[in-house]
Amino acid sequence: MVDQSVTSRILIVDDEPDLRNIFKRFLEIEGYPCRTAGDGEKALEMLGQEDFSLVISDINMPGISGIDLLRELGDRHPDVAVLMVSAIDDRKVAVQSLQLGAFSYMIKPVSRNELVINVVNGLRRRFLEIAHRRQSEKLEDLVQRRTRKLREAKQELVLASEETVLRLAKAAEFRDDETAQHTLRMSHYCRIIARGCGFDAKRCELIRLASQLHDVGKIGIPDAILLKPGKLTVDEFTLMKEHARFGFRILSDSRAELLQTGAVIARWHHEKFDGSGYPDGLVGEDIAIEARIAAIADVFDALTTRRVYKDALPVSGAIDILKKGRGHHFDPVLLDIFLADMDVVRRIRERFRDRGDQPGIKSRVPQ
Ligand SMILES: [Fe+2]
Ligand SMILES: [Fe+2]
Repeated sequence: MVDQSVTSRILIVDDEPDLRNIFKRFLEIEGYPCRTAGDGEKALEMLGQEDFSLVISDINMPGISGIDLLRELGDRHPDVAVLMVSAIDDRKVAVQSLQLGAFSYMIKPVSRNELVINVVNGLRRRFLEIAHRRQSEKLEDLVQRRTRKLREAKQELVLASEETVLRLAKAAEFRDDETAQHTLRMSHYCRIIARGCGFDAKRCELIRLASQLHDVGKIGIPDAILLKPGKLTVDEFTLMKEHARFGFRILSDSRAELLQTGAVIARWHHEKFDGSGYPDGLVGEDIAIEARIAAIADVFDALTTRRVYKDALPVSGAIDILKKGRGHHFDPVLLDIFLADMDVVRRIRERFRDRGDQPGIKSRVPQ
């Protein structure tokens, strides 16, 4: 512990010169360097210029009262300990002083022993309070730094898992769509519909990310079928349709919500609202809403982009086809939501446009 008598400077504030000098003498004998001030203004001026550990202040002084000085000290110099001295034994003022942060309240005449005991006590309490505050600040700082690091690590993890999803989707699509722009566009269309359903931002983003995995099962389809330029035979088409189940098998059984949602979308994005889709022939709302959303987004993007075997339809043409499928292929409510937001859809098409020199998607879309 610091030798407080050596390091602690004391300021004595009293309008009575005799009292100031007696206090000064008593305390200097004990080894405390002291300075004196005749009123509160002078005391504040000195406190602004010099370092003090402790102030002993009279209550009744001309100008700033001892109580006002105590208040100022609390605001401007919270590390300075304050002892109050008064000629009047007033319980109310004593309580007020202590509530404002004074360490003690002495009644004049103050004996030498009483003065020294109060000063030693005040300095010790101040020392402990400062040490405690520094410790708390250190701990708070540590907690803040750790929290920040944890947040950064979590963010990195989220980014890594999102990127892994996109790369997994890219790996599956690489053979027939080297740019994976289709995946990006359709995922943003999915978010538009999810938002229109009134889902919160977290769920919308979950659906967007998970929808990127809709065709991950294509990884299990041989090139001879996936990239076949001509019409598929019945058997080939039957195998092609298996990409929905393959995707589900790749993604299901995960504890991660993102992969669970991906599994649902992968399995049922080719289901049709009237039950004529595949692989399970589900009807209406038996088809998970995430998959009903993905079906609209997937078909719209397939229709409006160039594939090696077909030209892109204009947006208006694609809208006509989607409308024909309203209630048959597509959930009518979700389709209306999508069609009501075509301005945003057009912006997404623009943002993730296929470049002219890209080969486009080589395989046909298994509808
Ligand atoms: Fe598909
Ligand atoms: Fe697709």
